Amino acid sequence: MAQVSLKNVCKVFAGNVKAVDNVNIGIENKEFMVLVGPSGCGKSTTLRMIAGLEDISSGDIYIGDKKVNDVPAKDRDIAMVFQNYALYPHMTVFENMSFGLRLRRMPKGEIAQRVNEAADILGIKRLLRRRPKELSGGERQRVAVGRAIVRKPMVFLFDEPLSNLDAKMRVQMRTEIHKLHIRLQTTIIYVTHDQIEAMTMGDRIAVMKDGVLNQVADPITVYDHPKNKFVAGFIGSPPMNFMTGKIIKKDGRLYFDEGKFQVKLVDDMRQKMNAYVDKEVIFGIRSEDIYDKLFVSEAPPGNIVKVNCEVYEPMGSEVYLYLNTGKHTFIARVGAHDRPKINQDMDLVFDMSKVHFFNKDSEDTIV
Ligand SMILES: Nc1ncnc2c1ncn2[C@@H]1O[C@H](COP(=O)(O)OP(=O)(O)OP(=O)(O)O)[C@@H](O)[C@H]1O
Ligand SMILES: [Mg+2]
Repeated sequence: MAQVSLKNVCKVFAGNVKAVDNVNIGIENKEFMVLVGPSGCGKSTTLRMIAGLEDISSGDIYIGDKKVNDVPAKDRDIAMVFQNYALYPHMTVFENMSFGLRLRRMPKGEIAQRVNEAADILGIKRLLRRRPKELSGGERQRVAVGRAIVRKPMVFLFDEPLSNLDAKMRVQMRTEIHKLHIRLQTTIIYVTHDQIEAMTMGDRIAVMKDGVLNQVADPITVYDHPKNKFVAGFIGSPPMNFMTGKIIKKDGRLYFDEGKFQVKLVDDMRQKMNAYVDKEVIFGIRSEDIYDKLFVSEAPPGNIVKVNCEVYEPMGSEVYLYLNTGKHTFIARVGAHDRPKINQDMDLVFDMSKVHFFNKDSEDTIV
């Protein structure tokens, strides 16, 4: 069993840089956990502490039932794949993949069997006799993954393994690693700053910022119910739109007043929002929850917003509209056929059942 758990784990570098701040997380056996967050948030440091490549300043790390704080990296039964996977240039693919096993003095027959099995899984059997310079970027990446697979570790750690690949290859390898997880059934901890990789690959994702774990949940929960404004803005592309404004009460109903427009809150949000009447809040709406009124057959009154369309970008399957209320700019994703006139007013409909509100001071989610 290969659960991994971190209890109150901190890492303070010399010069008092707090790279990881009291992280608590439990990764289940066979789970694919993605650690995601902007550059410098402490993802690699966290992974390196799990691997044993970095001392922990305080707290405990367990792999299985065993506390590994003082267990050297080579005895932790994990394999790590790095962004710079540096294959040995003078060795063939076979030799690169088997290098670690040879160091461990594993019998030759078993080495050959493991390498062949891993090469088969990764579809690189025909490349075993080539050297790294004779491979494409994606093939080299597969070899690096293969080098980890042959060890049959309890836990795989991946640190941005796809960031050296071009966009198309990245998407392809993303699916490959996903399939690999289904096939190998091992625990994987995968670090990326790419929220799309996080959303598409993870059983759960852990969103980090400034060394602090902000939210750990399955991708859809993180997307639909972000814990705070940071998570809401980080997960999703284009990012969630935010506008600052006030909650007001009119005829017993609550409205969000942006300054240039007012929209009516749905009843479900009323209870939580009552405490914010006449106070400033941050309103959040995702681009796909905004519609051009022209294409909405029955737009309920009270959630129509007049804006100016500054630019539109046809994406093929949809169109991004860059809109301006006179106070805030934001983005809507509408149907491929929608081509509003530039620099003219247009009416939008907001799906008010999907909007979010954040506390202006703490930036925590209210509803
Ligand atoms: N050896 C070190 N000494 C001092 N500070 C360090 C050291 N390694 C990392 N840091 C700092 O710790 C913080 C976290 O770094 P880390 O490499 O974990 O970030 P990251 O989330 O992996 O970022 P990226 O997406 O850019 O790889 C950063 O502020 C970094 O500058
Ligand atoms: Mg990193």
